[in-house]
Amino acid sequence: MTDRLVALVTGAGSGIGRATTLRFVQSGAAVLGVDLNPEGLEETRRLSGAPGGVATLVADVTDLEAPKAAVDKAVSVFGRLDCLINNAGIGRAKAAHDTTDAEWDLYIAINLTSLFRFSREALRTLEPGRGSIVNIASVFGLFGHPHTAPYAATKAAVVGLTHQMAADYGPRGIRVNAVAPGVIETALTKERIERDPRFQALNIDPIPFPRLGHPEDVANAIYFLSSDQAAYINGHVLAVDGGWSVTNYSRRGAAL
Ligand SMILES: NC(=O)c1ccc[n+]([C@@H]2O[C@H](COP(=O)([O-])OP(=O)(O)OC[C@H]3O[C@@H](n4cnc5c(N)ncnc54)[C@H](O)[C@@H]3O)[C@@H](O)[C@H]2O)c1
Repeated sequence: MTDRLVALVTGAGSGIGRATTLRFVQSGAAVLGVDLNPEGLEETRRLSGAPGGVATLVADVTDLEAPKAAVDKAVSVFGRLDCLINNAGIGRAKAAHDTTDAEWDLYIAINLTSLFRFSREALRTLEPGRGSIVNIASVFGLFGHPHTAPYAATKAAVVGLTHQMAADYGPRGIRVNAVAPGVIETALTKERIERDPRFQALNIDPIPFPRLGHPEDVANAIYFLSSDQAAYINGHVLAVDGGWSVTNYSRRGAAL
C-alpha cells in the first residue's frame, strides 16, 4: 500500500490528460492513465521519466466494462485510488441543424455518460477526506456559443453533474469539482487555431491575455483541485481561459 496520491486520468494519451499525468507524477503521485490510443499512452509514460509511477490501460471510456477495469487496475497496481480525473473527450461539434443522431449520441456517450460511469465506479473506493473527482468541462458549457450544440450541451451537463455530485458526496468528505478550459493548444484545437478565421476571431483574438492556453495551465488547475491545498473547495467550476469568458467576446462574433 502506497501513501502517495493515486490518480486515474482518462484521455491520458494526449493534450491535457498527458500534461495532467506528468503534473501528478512530478508531484510524487502515481497515475493510471486510460486511453484508446496505446502509442499515446506509452509516450505519456515515457515522458513521465518515472516508469513505475505510471500504469496504463488501453480502453474506450464508453465501454461498459472500462470503469471497473480501470478502478480495479489502479487499486491492484498502486493499492488505492484517491483522485479521478474525467478528462477524455471529443470536440469539433456543429450547430444543431447539422448534427446527426449518431454524432449527438457519440458526444453524449464520450463527453457525458462515461464521466458518470467512471465516477460511480470510483465512488466505491474513494476515501472520505482524501478522495476527489475533477471533471473537465469547457467554457463552451457555461453559456451559448455558435456551432457547438452537442459539445456545449455535454459540457453544460458536466457542470450540472459536478454540482449535483458535490452536493451528494461532499457530506461524505469526497470533493467533486470541474475545470472549464478555454482555448488550449492541443490536438483537439490545432487545426482550428491555425486555419479557421471564424474560430480565431471568436475564441482567440478576444482573450485578454497575450497567449493561448497550454495543457500545463489546465493540468496545474486540475492538480490544485485534487490536492489538499483545495481541501475546502467542493462543487467549484474553475475557468482556465486567460479571462476569455468574462470579456465581451460576443460583440466581435456578432459582427461576423
Ligand atoms: N483543447 C481545448 O481547447 C479544450 C477546451 C475545453 C475543454 N477541453 C476538454 O479537455 C479534454 C481533453 O482535451 P484535449 O484538448 O487534451 O484533447 P486531445 O484530443 O489532445 O486528447 C483527448 C484524449 O482523449 C482520448 N479519447 C478520446 N475519446 C476516447 C474514448 N472514447 N476512450 C478513451 N480515450 C478517448 C484521445 O485518444 C486523446 O488521447 C476534453 O474533455 C476536451 O473537451 C479542451
